[in-house]
Amino acid sequence: MTRTLLQVRELSKRFKEREVVKGISFNITEGSCAALLGPNGAGKTTTISMLAGLLQPSGGSIELLVNGSPTTDRRPYIGFLPQMPVFYPWMTGVEFLLYAGELAGLTSREVKSETGEWLEAVGLREAGKRRIGSYSGGMKQRLGLAQALIHRPKLLILDEPVSALDPTGRKDVLTLLQRIRRETTVLFSTHVLHDAEEICDEIIMIRNGDIALQGSLDHVRRTYSEPVIRLEVGGDEASRSWLTAACGKDFVIHSEVSGGRAKMKVANVEQASRALMADAVSHRIMIRSLEAGHSTLEDLFLKVVQA
Ligand SMILES: Nc1ncnc2c1ncn2[C@@H]1O[C@H](COP(=O)(O)OP(=O)(O)OP(=O)(O)O)[C@@H](O)[C@H]1O
Ligand SMILES: [Mg+2]
Repeated sequence: MTRTLLQVRELSKRFKEREVVKGISFNITEGSCAALLGPNGAGKTTTISMLAGLLQPSGGSIELLVNGSPTTDRRPYIGFLPQMPVFYPWMTGVEFLLYAGELAGLTSREVKSETGEWLEAVGLREAGKRRIGSYSGGMKQRLGLAQALIHRPKLLILDEPVSALDPTGRKDVLTLLQRIRRETTVLFSTHVLHDAEEICDEIIMIRNGDIALQGSLDHVRRTYSEPVIRLEVGGDEASRSWLTAACGKDFVIHSEVSGGRAKMKVANVEQASRALMADAVSHRIMIRSLEAGHSTLEDLFLKVVQA
């Protein structure tokens, strides 16, 4: 059974005269992993800060339902990792988690056992004895995750958890999130589509403080993915002008060409690829690659963002 954990209605935020979150509504289902997507300045951090209880909304409501009933104070049930977490570099990882656990209201016995458990879970058991000042970006982010999870929240909220990390750090954190999401409902913001596609099942896309698109990843894919052919030809003049001409064929609905590459939106991928291949052969054009597939979430994101 799917049960709503977080219910957001007409949520808005105004800074002076400027409304940066414009009455957005969405639900987060218990056990799901939702991505809040949007370009820089879309309002992700503002929205997330309101959900985490760090920023007072200008209007609307946020309700967290525990076992189906609304809570008066949702903060104990939420774990939060900010976009730019700040650590005391002189503390060790262990000290930091002990401190975070106390702040979260755990008993001293709980603090000790949870600290050990989470250090292990985020792969910092050994490094926990060292000062945070010596940690890499990925290690800091994993420590931040341990801090956000130490009181076993119902909902874990993360603001751009991987955007500042190198590929290794990113992979570490994403793998960890994938594991966590089996037990905890997760909401994270990102502008990296690929990350959302990898671990989320729900997406909420915002643009200029408004929801541009929302739904399950499957639904969004099914509804919005379009048949697309990606074609690359040889670098000579003849190939390039053939490519430009090919984009003008009547089965091409829309196309983008740059250099020797083209992306064509077509009605029927199979028919279009056959026609293109046959035409290329008869004109003796060298095709470097032809990929017949569907538009990606990235294509959709760009379309929504630029609309
Ligand atoms: N304290 C504030 N006072 C005034 N304007 C603010 C404040 N905080 C955010 N804004 C504005 O609100 C808009 C949304 O900002 P926000 O930080 O929520 O975007 P974001 O989607 O998180 O962007 P990014 O991807 O860069 O993190 C921006 O135009 C920003 O300038
Ligand atoms: Mg932000």
